[in-house]
Amino acid sequence: MKTPLALPEATPKEQENSAKLLAKLRQEYPQGILSFAEFMANALYTAELGYYSGRKDIFGESGDFVTAPELTDIFSKTLANPIAEVLSHLDQASVAEFGGGSGTMAADILLTLEKHEQIPQNYFIIEISAILRKRQAETIGERAPHLLERVVWVEELPKNFIGVVVGNEILDALPVFRLLKDEELLELVVSIETDTPQWKTRPVMEGELNNFIQEHYQELVPQLPKGYHFEVCLSLKNWMRALARQMKQGVVLLVDYGYPRQELFRPDRHMGTLACHYRHRTHDDALWLPGQQDITAHVDFTLVAELAVENDLDVLGFAHQAGFLLGAGIEQYIAQDTIDPAELNEISNAKKLLMPSDMGESFKVIALGKEFEEGLSAFTHFDQRMRL
Ligand SMILES: C[S@@+](CC[C@H](N)C(=O)[O-])C[C@H]1O[C@@H](n2cnc3c(N)ncnc32)[C@H](O)[C@@H]1O
Repeated sequence: MKTPLALPEATPKEQENSAKLLAKLRQEYPQGILSFAEFMANALYTAELGYYSGRKDIFGESGDFVTAPELTDIFSKTLANPIAEVLSHLDQASVAEFGGGSGTMAADILLTLEKHEQIPQNYFIIEISAILRKRQAETIGERAPHLLERVVWVEELPKNFIGVVVGNEILDALPVFRLLKDEELLELVVSIETDTPQWKTRPVMEGELNNFIQEHYQELVPQLPKGYHFEVCLSLKNWMRALARQMKQGVVLLVDYGYPRQELFRPDRHMGTLACHYRHRTHDDALWLPGQQDITAHVDFTLVAELAVENDLDVLGFAHQAGFLLGAGIEQYIAQDTIDPAELNEISNAKKLLMPSDMGESFKVIALGKEFEEGLSAFTHFDQRMRL
């Protein structure tokens, strides 16, 4: 498979694993065509061969990308402030994290909650990848061994959950369908008949995807110019439904990159928002080397809010990451007078979380609530729910 220009050459092992994944897909889809959502789910999560389930070290400098909790512990420490606030209002409350990555965020949140004297009853982790579950246990075992007994890995949020649900960069990793506005609306699907997967189009068929587009994008689609590509995250529907069903009381805090719908569907995003990460390069060839690169799509935060409300959750707040972190007290970690180079490096990383040109504006935080009336002080000064 040809490497797109400007990407480092894949190793022979990566090429071999990718070929194995394609061969597996050909067996599972003998007709040689699958939706992009199916392709993305397989490329990311197939056991052993998928990006998040393979053997690759994906996080941090030696991997493919750096997330906020990996960049600096200041992110998770700050996030722990509103978590502690919510826990202080609830009895017998826990924390649940979706998509725990390397386990760094769990360790930092737990250690900070301990300082706040708000250790949760349990810290549940819902992680789809077996290899990452193992990595998370190792990280927490090293960084917060005395709190490891609180950590429980579960398949889904426990029933009647009371507490705080958190997720950083989890929604952008949910599989999306890809669409193209032409004379009619077309679905972009993936042909795997040859060694190099190819885009093909087909009309949007009657069924779940079509219904979902009618429900959430009916007004928008006629306004899109011909040639406009976009993604639709149908899997968010079941994800949100399951979350709301299991939750009895508490708050959900989701951090991710994306926009309210009106801003997401801008003319200059006419090729859609698929972004792939491979050894710190970002590109948009989502069909390249299946299983060996990260594939993401920007989050439609209006959709997140619509699905939350459909499932009887309240939208408690919405802010860009900088506004949220400032509201949550990040300055307590960065407004220090120091000349220690290690600390200066930390402060410079923390600034990346806030700078508009870095993660400060492109990342957003949405807070959802169930049976939670107290409000969140992190959104007191900066709340942009009206943009949703
Ligand atoms: C981009 S990584 C983010 C990891 C971590 N939260 C961080 O910020 O470093 C996405 C994570 O979500 C997990 N994941 C994706 N879909 C999931 C799902 N449906 N349920 C639970 N975990 C999921 C992946 O395996 C991975 O750990």
